[in-house]
Amino acid sequence: MNNQIVAPVFPSSRPAPAVSDHWLDELADGLTEHGWMSQCVASRLGADLLQGLRNEVQILDRTEALAKARIGRGADMLRDRSVRRDKIAWLQGVTPVQAELFAFFESVRLGLNQRLFLGLRRFEAHYATYHEGDFYRRHVDSFRGRASRVVSLVLYLNENWQEADGGALQVCNRENEDEICGTILPEAGRMALFMSEEIPHEVLPANRTRYSVACWFRCDEVPLPL
Ligand code: OGA
Ligand code: MN
Repeated sequence: MNNQIVAPVFPSSRPAPAVSDHWLDELADGLTEHGWMSQCVASRLGADLLQGLRNEVQILDRTEALAKARIGRGADMLRDRSVRRDKIAWLQGVTPVQAELFAFFESVRLGLNQRLFLGLRRFEAHYATYHEGDFYRRHVDSFRGRASRVVSLVLYLNENWQEADGGALQVCNRENEDEICGTILPEAGRMALFMSEEIPHEVLPANRTRYSVACWFRCDEVPLPL
């Protein structure tokens, strides 16, 4: 018998998630008016995609393939458990569900560029798991002037999330950091979108395991390898 290389068989490719001009207008309007918005995109993404993403992050969690999240980059990099306690794994876009999600992110990137001239050149995305008691204290996703992360998108993957489960994302007013102007439950299919530099936000302690994908649209080039 000859040694044949057998390619892995993936489920047949699925249609890219539905993204309409009208919907992209809504996202752009939300970012312009308030600097953030939240919406349920469950029917847009479809139950299969959400389920597939949840399966992946749960497997990563069970096999302890997630790493403790860090704060900052390069020499500034810290693992400060008093600031954030989530665990993460970067997405590569190679599995079928990740490819489908990346097609969705790419449509959002192009749609926002067309409407807001943000010059978003690429995106990066990771899974995050917050176990019971985990949180992420108030922060912004990009330091003013560094202009690397421009728009943040978080997609939640948790079925039947109740208020008592904690883990809400609190969004602050961009004019007044002390005013909380949005509380978003991490229910499967809900998406939060906000300007990375402008909107302070916080993940309250979760009372059960909380899964999400966080994505950042960036205006810089891919960094050169060290
Ligand atoms: C982050 C973050 C929010 C959330 O990863 O920077 O703020 O609701 N996530 O998971
Ligand atoms: Mn954040």
